[in-house]
Amino acid sequence: MKDVVLWAGAGQIGLAIARRVGFGKKIVVGDKRIENAQAMADIMNNAGYDVTPVEMDLASRESILNLITEGQKYGEIAILISAACVSPSQASIETILKVDLYGTAVLLEEVGKVIKNGGVGVHISSQSGWRMPQLGNEIDDQLATTPTEELLSLPILQPEHIKDTLHAYQMAKRCNEKRVMAQACKWGARGARLNDIAPGIIVTPLAVDEFNGPRGDFYKNMFAKCPAGRPGTADEVANVAELLMSPAGAFITGTTILIDGGATASYYYGPLKPQN
Ligand SMILES: NC(=O)c1ccc[n+]([C@@H]2O[C@H](COP(=O)([O-])OP(=O)(O)OC[C@H]3O[C@@H](n4cnc5c(N)ncnc54)[C@H](O)[C@@H]3O)[C@@H](O)[C@H]2O)c1
Repeated sequence: MKDVVLWAGAGQIGLAIARRVGFGKKIVVGDKRIENAQAMADIMNNAGYDVTPVEMDLASRESILNLITEGQKYGEIAILISAACVSPSQASIETILKVDLYGTAVLLEEVGKVIKNGGVGVHISSQSGWRMPQLGNEIDDQLATTPTEELLSLPILQPEHIKDTLHAYQMAKRCNEKRVMAQACKWGARGARLNDIAPGIIVTPLAVDEFNGPRGDFYKNMFAKCPAGRPGTADEVANVAELLMSPAGAFITGTTILIDGGATASYYYGPLKPQN
């Protein structure tokens, strides 16, 4: 038996992280588009890793449980890489909330029931949620602790409160951060750690869709005017994930680390500040 890495979302960010933490372990990668999971498995198996692709829909608890069961065939679940999502240009408000908000909450909850002692997890949220104003303690508590099956019924998530798909994505990512905090307490009781990374614009197919989507100019302006003056790479996100998941990160859990080239700083105090 081997330690098992469960990896949801066969995208570039997940790949970069899996390469850092997955060698010598069994990696089970799930994606709604099985061809994406298969492509990642091919790349990694040809580079000495041990990867099995699985079709998985993050919007479905049954599908998430199936991913976990598949992983447990090979050993104990030691690592979670949670990097599946749909972006604002890829899906409707309803789908974004179902996949990114509800699905992530279920994934963190279900893996938290089986993660081994000493296990680690990292979820990928987004800097996008950081541009939204504070929602207040009451709503933060609701997002953090409402039972997963009731989450999508919260008043704050009803259509009259969600302006557009970007707002839905930001709400999902804010919720992710709060769920990671709440779940880290449960993971801690099992001797495991869970953290979140909020990346800025990272060049991946998802970001390329955004560059070519209705908010393309907005995105290009954002990286041009952030202190770093460029988008980031998946490998730079993996640098942070590696720290969070290594013994050097043993005192870090339940937190979100922003890695955005300073875009959020510029949004509040620099040239990206909205002109009212
Ligand atoms: N790329 C960026 O600029 C950026 C910025 C901030 C945050 N992020 C976050 O990073 C994470 C990874 O994104 P990426 O850039 O690697 O994107 P990506 O498009 O390369 O990968 C995302 C993967 O998720 C899969 N997916 C979509 N819906 C799914 C579902 N219902 N069930 C299972 N899998 C599903 C897609 O098929 C795709 O393979 C996402 O959570 C994203 O929000 C990305």
